Amino acid sequence: MDIFAKLGFRPIFWSDGHLIVLDQRKLPTEESYIRLETVEQAVMAISDLIVRGAPLIGITAAYALTLLPNISDNLAFENSCAMLKSTRPTAVNLSWAVDRMAAFYRQAVNRENLADDLLAEAVRIHQEDAESCRKIGDHGNQVISDPCRILTHCNAGALATGGIGTALGVIYTAFFSGRKIEAWVDETRPVLQGARLTAWELSRAKVPFKLITDNMAAELMSRKLIDLVIVGADRIAGNLDIANKIGTYGLAVLASYHDIPFYCAAPTSTFDTACPDGRSIPIEFRAEAEITAMFGKNIAPENCPVRNPAFDITPNELITGIITENGILKPGRQGLR
Ligand code: MRU
Repeated sequence: MDIFAKLGFRPIFWSDGHLIVLDQRKLPTEESYIRLETVEQAVMAISDLIVRGAPLIGITAAYALTLLPNISDNLAFENSCAMLKSTRPTAVNLSWAVDRMAAFYRQAVNRENLADDLLAEAVRIHQEDAESCRKIGDHGNQVISDPCRILTHCNAGALATGGIGTALGVIYTAFFSGRKIEAWVDETRPVLQGARLTAWELSRAKVPFKLITDNMAAELMSRKLIDLVIVGADRIAGNLDIANKIGTYGLAVLASYHDIPFYCAAPTSTFDTACPDGRSIPIEFRAEAEITAMFGKNIAPENCPVRNPAFDITPNELITGIITENGILKPGRQGLR
């Protein structure tokens, strides 16, 4: 199953010594690619959501570290690592990928081919994530009934990873294995990753879906129109609390009230045992304008006070299972299924 052939885009690729990324800010109205030539440009691309989604920003940072003009300059390399890591504090895949590149850099035996060797390590990070997505899709497929009406939030698809996606990877795998799937797509305020990105991906793959606003899920659940909820994650704490796009926690509470299974799909690079529980996960706060304006137009009074956390924490007791490349983890129980 080549989902990329059906999707017809690649969110990131390396070409002729440069990093090319799809500009996700412009979707779905414009499909344009940007060439990143410096670490600074990659930092800007991650901060401005040109690339987004926890695994994809990790992959972007890994490639970015190969763009330094003098790769043997240790100080410039360490500074670049710090700059990249500071861009988006919740998505742990970012620091995971940077730390892995830094460890490789420090131990690289062949300093002469350092640039090529580093690039090979970035490619491995990219390919391993694609493989994790594929396996997540296969494991997740086991919990999908036929037919199944699945609600997803934000974008945890091919646009957010190096492969077919995590939450959307499960939906694609189930759909292309012949199950009758209907997706409900939360629009995902404030920056509409659901409406702009997930709806775009699913239409390209021809997966049946309907777009809803974020305040509609309760009504759909009360009418028994949702069989399962599946989301991605930006960081999973040691006790299996998860951080994901703001609004995820509310969906988990609703799913629990309505007795609907709530799954999280994420690679093991999203796990952070240094955070014992959700309260220790740093939450990224973003610009007020994401809430007060849309597409460059004000939608709130000038100087309107705003609170804009990009992520929330869903406690483990609300999660039916966490689907990883190694199997399905049941919060509250030991080990993998
Ligand atoms: O702010 P974003 O668009 O980077 O947020 C993305 C999410 O919340 C995703 O659900 C998460 O990163 C997992 S992507 C496989």
